Amino acid sequence: MKRTVIIDALASKEYDTPIRVSGWVRSRRGNKQVNFIALNDGSTIKNIQIVVDLSKFTEEALKPVTTGSCINVEGILVKSQGAGQDVEIQMTDFQVYGSADPDQYPLQKKGLSMEYLRTIAHLRPRTNTFGAVLRIRHNMAMAIHTYFHEHGYFYFHTPLITASDAEGAGQMFQVTTLDLDRLAKGQPSEVPYDRDFFGKPANLTVSGQLEGELGAMALGKIYTFGPTFRAENSNTPRHLAEFWMIEPEIAFMDKEELMDLEEDFIKYCVRWALEHCQDDLQFLNQFVDKGLIERLQSVAHTEFVRLPYTEGIDILQNAIKNGHKFEFPCNWGDDLSSEHERYLVEQHFKKPVIMTDYPLDIKAFYMKQNQPDEAGRRTVQGTDVLFPQIGEIIGGSVREESYDKLLIEMDRRKMDPAKYKWYLDTRRFGAAPHAGFGLGFERLMLFVTGMQNIRDVIPFPRTPKSAEF
Ligand code: 4AD
Ligand code: MG
Repeated sequence: MKRTVIIDALASKEYDTPIRVSGWVRSRRGNKQVNFIALNDGSTIKNIQIVVDLSKFTEEALKPVTTGSCINVEGILVKSQGAGQDVEIQMTDFQVYGSADPDQYPLQKKGLSMEYLRTIAHLRPRTNTFGAVLRIRHNMAMAIHTYFHEHGYFYFHTPLITASDAEGAGQMFQVTTLDLDRLAKGQPSEVPYDRDFFGKPANLTVSGQLEGELGAMALGKIYTFGPTFRAENSNTPRHLAEFWMIEPEIAFMDKEELMDLEEDFIKYCVRWALEHCQDDLQFLNQFVDKGLIERLQSVAHTEFVRLPYTEGIDILQNAIKNGHKFEFPCNWGDDLSSEHERYLVEQHFKKPVIMTDYPLDIKAFYMKQNQPDEAGRRTVQGTDVLFPQIGEIIGGSVREESYDKLLIEMDRRKMDPAKYKWYLDTRRFGAAPHAGFGLGFERLMLFVTGMQNIRDVIPFPRTPKSAEF
């Protein structure tokens, strides 16, 4: 008999007909006459109830059917008598694919802490919470590809191994085939990069943006969606060493259009979750974050605030005057920390904020420069999106298209222009105004699931001192 996926079995109206399902046992309970097995195959957060008539099966045969074991069940689909489900299966035959020793299976108990579950990341996808998170993660990826495809963007694949530093911030993992042990023992005065795989130093990319810009200068509108790597030693609930980023890059786009895109795109993703992930969101709303669905609905329907950095600093300074205490300073020129961002978003405006026009010195070399203001202060056309609970979810900007200005900025930042010749060529041959942004996929996942720690919205997190699995 063909196997029915549990999500389809639960929706089926073909009562009193034979059916076959397979899955992992979430629980088995009952009395001397009848047992109930809750079976889950990952297709949905909901389990199907298998009813076992104990006059037909011995306790001995059922012994391996414990929490975590994997079984195949044949039976009759019937309308359920009990509350909580529409249908159930009256078992006529079963087979154990794989047992799970009750004394050893780590997911035996309910209510295990997130910290503990991280140590068993190879098994945690079988819990309700992680099943929900991972199904939503898939749905968000589909939302992203659909959005860009429907809006005429091309999916552009940028390299993961590169010889340049896209952000000019130097937080990179080096990629090498040199034998480091031997080098250490030989104590050479210089690393022999000519003998390395690429013949020069190479690293894992921190962002696909620079290559993305090359794509936009030919295809008009592109986006990337892939892993990026940062060797920043940030042990926070919002940083990963390996995270996924979505980076659209668009020719002929100005700052207003860029902000429209950022807002429209995020709202589309949030609405997609509300439409496609109802069961999983309801579970998370009940057990992880009681305000989740309300917050998603609110963001999907409110207009984001658009706030120049300079005005943001005024608001923060006023808050300090009125007695609000921040851990870090926030004078004009300072990089805002997440406490400042969250104050603006959660307490002052109570909605998402797109912050614009940051000081030149705290942003990357490629951002489009504004005319200096009356006080001579220099700003760039950055457009970061700040979100409740998360802080920065998007980092974006209009790009500086002037070859000369870029060269000056690179020089000021001690970047070697020779290494970026290919990038600078876009400003020599048919330079065009353009703009783009990067959305941190796991930051979006944090927002959409209500999970508290970024380690819990990716199957196998990479963080300082942790590369298990
Ligand atoms: O602000 P960032 O560093 O911007 C860039 O990389 C640009 N090249 C993007 C672009 O304009 N194409 O990073 C973009 C986003 C951040 O807003 C944040 O959501 C996420 O990437 N992000 C991280 N997410 C998880 N862990 C980290 N360590 C992250 N660093 C940045
Ligand atoms: Mg940023």
